[in-house]
Amino acid sequence: MEKQADIVKATATDANLKNYEEARRTFDWTDVEKEFSWHSTGKVNMAYEAIDRQVEAGLGDKVALYYSDATRDEAVTYGQMKSNSNKFGNVLRGLGIGKGERVFIFMPRSPELYYALLGTIKVGAIVGPLFEAFMEQAVRDRLEDSQAIAIVTTPTLLPRVPVADLPNLKHVILVGDDLELGERGVDFKKEMAAASEELAIEWVDREDALILHYTSGSTGKPKGVVHVHNAMIQHYYTGKIVLDLKQDDVYWCTADPGWVTGTSYGVFAPFLNGATNVIRGGRFSPQDWYGTIQRYKVTVWYSAPTAFRMLMGAGDDTVSQFDLSSLRHVLSVGEPLNPEVVRWGLKVYNKRIHDTWWMTETGGQLICNYPSMDIRPGSMGKPIPGTDAAIVDDNGNVLPPNRMGNLAIKTPWPSMMRRIWNNPSKYEEYFRLEGWYVSGDSAYMDEDGYFWFQGRVDDVINTSGERVGPFEVESKLVEHPAVAEAGVIGKPDPLRGEIIKAFISLRAGFEPSEELKADIAKFVKVGLSAHASPREIEFRDKLPKTRSGKIMRRVLKAWELGLPTGDLSTIED
Ligand code: PRX
Repeated sequence: MEKQADIVKATATDANLKNYEEARRTFDWTDVEKEFSWHSTGKVNMAYEAIDRQVEAGLGDKVALYYSDATRDEAVTYGQMKSNSNKFGNVLRGLGIGKGERVFIFMPRSPELYYALLGTIKVGAIVGPLFEAFMEQAVRDRLEDSQAIAIVTTPTLLPRVPVADLPNLKHVILVGDDLELGERGVDFKKEMAAASEELAIEWVDREDALILHYTSGSTGKPKGVVHVHNAMIQHYYTGKIVLDLKQDDVYWCTADPGWVTGTSYGVFAPFLNGATNVIRGGRFSPQDWYGTIQRYKVTVWYSAPTAFRMLMGAGDDTVSQFDLSSLRHVLSVGEPLNPEVVRWGLKVYNKRIHDTWWMTETGGQLICNYPSMDIRPGSMGKPIPGTDAAIVDDNGNVLPPNRMGNLAIKTPWPSMMRRIWNNPSKYEEYFRLEGWYVSGDSAYMDEDGYFWFQGRVDDVINTSGERVGPFEVESKLVEHPAVAEAGVIGKPDPLRGEIIKAFISLRAGFEPSEELKADIAKFVKVGLSAHASPREIEFRDKLPKTRSGKIMRRVLKAWELGLPTGDLSTIED
């Protein structure tokens, strides 16, 4: 592992974090806590701190949210965010929903999504955001596991909510017009119009649950990662030093709130810092994205490597058609950021793209590049002040620089997950090495303390920055009438990081064909979700299995990459 010679010098002179090394020596999380009123009262609510407190501090008329898509174009002030989220809180209270109950939100981005999310938090309920592309199985798994009491959705997405099979789901809150409300249906617009703007906020304990984000591992169904209100300390602080947010910033996080980036850094961090948040609905296109930056004069932009690679693919000419001079700070998360992309960003945006590393489970950013720190393209950066990261071996011994091993974080930190819903043993697996959270990523640290991502330790697939569990895809595949067995791996891809590739053996009576491949891919797309559908399928007579019948993905991956298959002593035949 050679250290890359490339260094991109820091040029920011007015960054919130002036001196990283000094902050590491002097920083104390309790100093951040003291900035919140609840430090003295002990009563806390994330949504109050994010919205109401800003109104009380005089930001009531400031734009909290710019929202636009093909049909809507709106600006919502902090004052309006406060009253609309209060209204939704009252709608939930009217249904008898309160502290600790799970309320899911399953809809495309819109201002209503944000009112619902913040209103749910205001009454102390636990919010569960779902990505709009989820299909029935994905929705069912999450609502069943969490025993959700309510879902906020749209008439278009409603057919994917298996209401009849979910006895605990008492309320289906529909956002739309001319609704046909079933037995459990609630008309969002009608109820919002009738609701009071005044709400007695449910004050909770800092360790009470806030949000439930489902994410994938290599085995089993998706697991519900529980975050608590205390996470705000980290969201606020990293918003300040990593996103470098200042009050005048117009900030755009391109992630959907169905994923953790879209809540921690698409809702909480920007509002806690009193910034103006841009939300753009609709699909990705380079013209649309650059047009969004130009139109709103975006100053801080948080996106992902796949998007940057697609923008790179659209050509430098596309960039020059837009005025992107408002941009001050650009960041990336979710998958390895290629040094090539960083160099391209310097050339076309004249900006450094700052990589950040974290996970659903960590709740907030942990290893980052800061505007006032030199960047080494290809490195994820250094741990945020107040936390320690290290490379450890499987016994928890800290390895010296330049040795590859498990990327681990010293416990605890404020936004760390506190539970896996219904699954304490899964939770404990992450903390199996005394004093450490084991990320599942492998990495090394160079002699100057920069961390370099190397890969996943397990079989989790990262396609376009979205985390996909192979088991979920395999389970869906074997429901197809033609599929006898299926094994799923991530195949390296220059644009998407990885694509999903499925190896399939067919049931008797089915013959391999291109039509069958397309049909199987569609089956997953319609049943589970588009991003979990295999882009490549290969039929094989037999799949490699252990004697206990487990498909050996490691062997499939070796086949795919043309590598030696390694120890096959446990293989069936
Ligand atoms: O493998 C790492 C990769 O994404 C995983 C976490 O995925 P998820 O929980 O969906 O959260 C994504 C956004 C917070 C990690 O275990 N990953 C995330 N950031 C980076 C990364 N891989 C390389 N470089 C990164 N900056």
